[in-house]
Amino acid sequence: MNTILITGGTGFIGSHTCVVLLNAGFNLIILDSFINSSEKVLDNICELANIKDINQTQRLIVYKGDFRNKKILNLIFSDAELKNNNISCVMHFAGLKAVGESNFKPLSYWDVNVSGTINILKVMEQYKCNNFVFSSSAAVYGGLNNNPNEDSIARPENPYGETKLTVEKILRNLYFSSPNKWRIVFLRYFNPIGAHESGLLGEDFNNDATNIFPDICKVALGKKKFLKVFGNDWPTPDGTGVRDYIHVMDLADGHFQAMQYLLRNKPQVVCLNLGTGVGTSVLELIRIFEESNSCKVPYLISHRRIGDVACLIADNKLAISKLNWFPKRDLKKMCQDSWNWNKKNPNGYE
Ligand code: NAD
Ligand code: UD1
Repeated sequence: MNTILITGGTGFIGSHTCVVLLNAGFNLIILDSFINSSEKVLDNICELANIKDINQTQRLIVYKGDFRNKKILNLIFSDAELKNNNISCVMHFAGLKAVGESNFKPLSYWDVNVSGTINILKVMEQYKCNNFVFSSSAAVYGGLNNNPNEDSIARPENPYGETKLTVEKILRNLYFSSPNKWRIVFLRYFNPIGAHESGLLGEDFNNDATNIFPDICKVALGKKKFLKVFGNDWPTPDGTGVRDYIHVMDLADGHFQAMQYLLRNKPQVVCLNLGTGVGTSVLELIRIFEESNSCKVPYLISHRRIGDVACLIADNKLAISKLNWFPKRDLKKMCQDSWNWNKKNPNGYE
């Protein structure tokens, strides 16, 4: 049985992916510092994967710690070896992800996202684990191209995006340093939203996220009076920003398929956009959210947000052709699942 190390496995995207992987029969080891997640997520992952007692199973082992700490990484890999539970692949979700914050704390972003990732890769090399799935972002593209494919020019507009692109470059260097060794995929996510349909997992909106979906949910829950729409004078059909929203469970399935692809194919480094290829404007998103959930999301038109782009939609053809994957859940489903999670957990995992 393959054992996968998941860094950041209790975060938004990591937790959903853990459920998919556990239910597909993989053994998992989670490393998380819980700096942006709750230990309660673990109970819900266990419930969804039918794990009765987390202390009595090889299916899911959890380490609390920071992936910048080599000691804990060594402990994880050596423990796994001792138990004959060798780690065959690392999925690296953990990191800092707030775009705005990255402008004010660039050193933290470079330290965690870049130095930390180098740390993991060094330990992987030591233990001869050479399969790596990395969480990259559409933030690497900047605003040069509305419909980028993986070969489009990447010109990030903030330190967060720079750190993601830098890790991608490091991963390419690593692959080419020894082309018969590493299997690496980096997945550039577009705009992940939605939640597990059980309402047991979702995005914990208690942090200071500045993305649109947390705010739509807060307004619908009555925690905020109205949503600020950042500009209605963009060169888009209704003047508001257009994005490619993707259900987090489709992303999770994408990770599963990307890993299967890596494990079944020869060493390579591959970059894939994970998006639906469908664009939705802010006003359309509000309308579909209201219709799907029979609720109201009052909004005000505000000025454009600095650093925003008019439109960003994935060209997802490469992911679809390489992986046995296609995003199945539409925007209505994203809105419904997210609302279900929010209604059941108005204070997140608290
Ligand atoms: P998240 O913050 O919900 O999850 C990240 C997890 O990593 C958290 O559980 C956090 O506690 C953990 N973590 C952070 N720093 C750590 C450290 N030093 N050591 C150990 N654990 C640490 O984020 P997410 O939305 O699930 O995103 C996962 C990945 O996907 C991130 O790398 C992010 O940059 C990338 N990404 C996210 C989005 C998005 O919109 N959510 C879009 C594109 C890319
Ligand atoms: C943001 C990040 C991007 C990251 C992506 C996915 C910025 C500048 N970019 O992109 O790097 O990859 O999240 O995590 O933060 N909007 C409003 N009102 C709001 C919030 C947003 O109208 O209160 C609009 C925005 O102008 C945009 C759309 O909603 O048109 C989506 O915004 P957001 O959710 O922040 O995502 P991105 O801007 O795509």
